[in-house]
Amino acid sequence: MNAQRTPLVAGNWKMHGSLEANAALLAEVVKGAAVFGRGQVAVCVPFPYLAQAQSLLAATPISWGSQNVSQHTHGAYTGEVSCAMLKDFGCRYAIVGHSERRALYSEDDALIAAKTAAALAAGLTPIVCVGESLAERESGVTAEVVRRQLAAVIDVVGASGVAKSVIAYEPVWAIGTGKTASPAQAQEVHALIRAQVAQTDAGVAQGVRILYGGSVKGSNARELFAQSDIDGGLIGGAALVAQDFLAICAAAN
Ligand code: 13P
Repeated sequence: MNAQRTPLVAGNWKMHGSLEANAALLAEVVKGAAVFGRGQVAVCVPFPYLAQAQSLLAATPISWGSQNVSQHTHGAYTGEVSCAMLKDFGCRYAIVGHSERRALYSEDDALIAAKTAAALAAGLTPIVCVGESLAERESGVTAEVVRRQLAAVIDVVGASGVAKSVIAYEPVWAIGTGKTASPAQAQEVHALIRAQVAQTDAGVAQGVRILYGGSVKGSNARELFAQSDIDGGLIGGAALVAQDFLAICAAAN
């Protein structure tokens, strides 16, 4: 954490939830999150539940968003959801380039850069995910992989685009595995990310929020968020349990 930057904890619900379960979860989160400032807590829900999130969260300090966007504005793209549609449902954030999209849906760096640009053009704040696989970490190419993923986005949206984005470092080997990057391991990559942004614009690098994601829990969040370049978290499994999510939010504030 650095006092210059407002912390953010965003839940990524992935493909979980139901109208009933979401209502119960959000009621508890809303109650517990009253102490946090506007823009510091968010939930990224499946598309069909955006209207529910909007109606339950509109009068609260909690923001909401999507887990993916289309790079296109409209047209014959069956099954896709445009950024303008997300704006219609009051989304503030959109996760872009999550490792599950990269690995399971073959999203490459160029597509993720295009999605980031589309989100920015619509006035959404993209949460751009980067991170290495276990094989990449073990072969010592973490810095190179993260640099390549981020460079593709910076090349397209520039420093001004990065200034309006959030970056999330999510080592693939730490997602849903219970294996968290150590605070030092995470900080090392976060510092590299900030240094890479600084090569384009030092001021933007100071201001951009870089979240850590990968098995963040109430028990390890405080230590992670204490690192100087970690500005909050992108939370998977623990975001589905109100008390766990709130404990992580408390650790960031
Ligand atoms: P877990 O917190 O379940 O490891 O998931 C992290 C993640 O992928 C958030 O986007």
